[in-house]
Order: sequence, then structure tokens, then C-alpha cells
Amino acid sequence: MIGISKKGSKKEREEWGSRKGFILATVGSAVGLGNVWRFPTVVAENGGGAFVLVYLAMVFLVGIPIMIAELTLGRSGGSNVVRVFRKLAPGSGWWLAGLFPAAASFFILAIYSVVAGWVLVYIFSSLAGLTSGLDAGELSALFSSITGSAAYPLLGQAVFLFITAAIVVVGVRKGIERWGKILMPGIILLLLVFFVRTMFFEGVWSGIVWFLKPDFSAFTYSTALEAVGQVFFSFSLGMGAIMTYGSYLPRESNIPGNSLSISIADVGVALLTGLIVIPSLFVFGLSPETGPGLIFITLPAIFNSIPFGMLWSTVFFLLLAFAALTSAVSLIQVQVAYLTEELGWSKFFAALITALGIYLISIPTALSQGALAGIALAGLNIFDFIDFFASNLLLPLGGLLAVIFTGWVWGVRKAVTEMKTAGNDFKLQGVWSVLVRFLVPLAVAYILISGLVS
Ligand code: TRP
Repeated sequence: MIGISKKGSKKEREEWGSRKGFILATVGSAVGLGNVWRFPTVVAENGGGAFVLVYLAMVFLVGIPIMIAELTLGRSGGSNVVRVFRKLAPGSGWWLAGLFPAAASFFILAIYSVVAGWVLVYIFSSLAGLTSGLDAGELSALFSSITGSAAYPLLGQAVFLFITAAIVVVGVRKGIERWGKILMPGIILLLLVFFVRTMFFEGVWSGIVWFLKPDFSAFTYSTALEAVGQVFFSFSLGMGAIMTYGSYLPRESNIPGNSLSISIADVGVALLTGLIVIPSLFVFGLSPETGPGLIFITLPAIFNSIPFGMLWSTVFFLLLAFAALTSAVSLIQVQVAYLTEELGWSKFFAALITALGIYLISIPTALSQGALAGIALAGLNIFDFIDFFASNLLLPLGGLLAVIFTGWVWGVRKAVTEMKTAGNDFKLQGVWSVLVRFLVPLAVAYILISGLVS
């Protein structure tokens, strides 16, 4: 169904064909490397259970309320991030708040496409049997040699960005909705199989306890900031991506209900992956400080303990590549929507230039695990620095602006009216309003400042 959008916009905008299509596509955008790669990595680096608990608290306190706000803003503004602000608060400087997330997606993609490039390399390594029969130590060495080389990461990343741009050119419904429907159930099914296998390893229990039992002695504000950053990253918040999805939502859809379903699915995949990867750290005697290679070492080690491991491994990395692709499409879409709708560029040209720009800035990111490993910014290598800067700083700032805008400039009353169009009820409207006006901005601002100074 192609609907004529709101008054004042000359162009037609596509709308989602069905509620299920929207949820699956949005879950497809939200579930990606953030859940399967980043979540276990930050849990391991931040001491396990206490981090998981803080993360869950942030999901309810910050994540779900902001997702509701962003979807509502998007549907009401019906357009790209900059235009949403300009349309809902005409003549103000708020459109600048929209520019900033559009720029932020560059940095996220600079990390994202590098990791997705590794995933592509692992599809072929699994297929070629290179990971078969290796133990965890050998898999560690393999990861270092792959990511330490220049050719494989750069090639994988180029291929990934090219496919991402091509999907955006094909269009929102045809491109995204179809993939979301097919792939999400596949990933979840495979993860369930790996979960069951993991539970039968000897020594798995201490890993589960480490994952689930909070030990607050290791807790600091930087842990809280990491948790907030992870929620933003995983829920695709703070950057207008969810807003763009909301702009394709039909009037009659129930925004709070949809937000809850999307969030539960996203958290579910993260926890499931955590319950596989974290206990395997203990089973295979790896250090929690393993870093970004964590899943590329633990998961193949699990696959090698299952009959036909090579096949499981190939299929899993293939599905993960698709999950990364649907997420990257939503990331790049933020910029493409801006360039086409604001500057009048063709979709083709906008996607091409964006992908090329990201490729160029992410070459140093890709090389930071090898040739450029020695370069440190604020004590982090280029990869970790960009990840920290984008996830823990830019995303929370973008989310803070979106939430202040909703709570104080546009106003919760208008937002609630927008949600209740077409007869939808919103039982928790009071709670949501208080969260959006007071608690969420204060909590995010407080954690941001304390996390940075501590
Ligand atoms: N949420 C996705 C993931 O977990 C990544 C992602 C897609 C994203 N779009 C985004 C993150 C927008 C931040 C902003 O892999």
C-alpha cells in the first residue's frame, strides 16, 4: 500500500503493508551485531551480572520510553530526522538536533561495516573448513591473523557496504521487509540450538552464575554509561533510525504496543546470545578481556563440538551477515533519506556517496586491529575509540535531544494525542509522560556526565 503522506509534503511516502511487516522489519533493523557481537563483548568487559542488571534497568527506564518517543515523532513528522524537528517546531534551531544524529550514523557504520566485514570473511573461512577442528587458542590466533591483515577486512567491508547501498536503492518495503520476515526466525532457531549445546558443556555453571549474578563491587559510573550506550546501540535509538521507521507507520498502529514487542524481541536475542557466549568463555578458559573477537572465537569453538560443525558455522555467519545487513540498511537510510528529501539527490547517488564516504573513513578503523594497532586516542585504539565516541556519547546525546524535544518542546500532550489517533489506548500515558519529561533526561544526562568524568 502506498499512501499519500501528510499535508505539505509533495512527495508520496511508502507505508508499511501490515503490522506484522512493520514489527518484523523494525526488529530486523534493531537485532544485529549489537545483540550478537556487541552485547556479549561489553558484558564480558564490564564484569558480568551487575552489568546485565543495569542494562535491563536501562531498557525499561530509558530504552522503551525513548523508542516510543522516536516512533511517535517519526510518524507525526513523517519524514527524515531534520525535517521532523523542522516540521514540529518550525522556525526554531531544533533542526540542528536532527543533523547531529545524521552525522553520528557515519561513525556507527564505520564500526559496523568493519565487524560485518569480519563476519563475511568468517562465512568463507567456515566454508573452506579453516575453522574446523581448531581449539579456542587456535581460533584466537586465527582471528588475530584475519583481522590483523589488511586485505581481508578491507575487502569484506567493501562488499558489505556495497550490498547495503544496493538494498537501499531497491526501496524500503521490497528491500527490508522481505529480509526481516525470512531471517529473524532462522537466527533465533540457530541460537536456541547453540544454547542447548552450550548447557551440556562441563563447567558451564560458573559462567551462567557470572552472567546472571550481580557483583556490584565492580560497578562504576562508566559501567552505567556502557549499559546506556548498549541500550541505545541495540535499540537503534538516538539517531533517527527508529524515527525513520516510524515515518512509514500507518495512523492506526499502536505505538506503545509495538515498541514493547520490538524491545522484548531485541533484549531476548541479546540475552540468549549472552547465555551462549559468556558461559563458553569459562568452558574454553578464555579471558573476559578477549575484546571484539569474542564471538569469533567462542562460537566456532562451540560449532566444532557439534556434528557437521562447519555447516552450522557457515549458516550461522551467513544469517548474522544478513542481520547485520538489515541493521546497516536502517543506519544508512538515515543519511539517504536526508540527502534525497532535503537536497533532492537521487536515491542512487545518495546511497553511492554515503557508502563511499563511510568506506573511506572506516579504512583506519579496519586497520586498527593490525597495521594501525599502535595508534591510541584517549588510551583506546581507533576502533574502540570510535565505538566509545559514537555509542556512549553521540547516541545518548541524540536520544537526550529527542526526548527533551518530545517532553518539553513538542510536548507530551501532542505526542499522546498522536499515539491515540485511530482509537488506540495508552494505559501508561502518565508514567510515560513523567519519564520522558523528567526521569529519562535527568538519568541520561547524569550518567553521561558521571561516566565521562569517572
Ligand atoms: N541496533 C542495531 C544492532 O543492534 C544497529 C543499528 C541499526 C543502530 N540502526 C541503528 C544503532 C541506529 C544505532 C542507531 O545491531
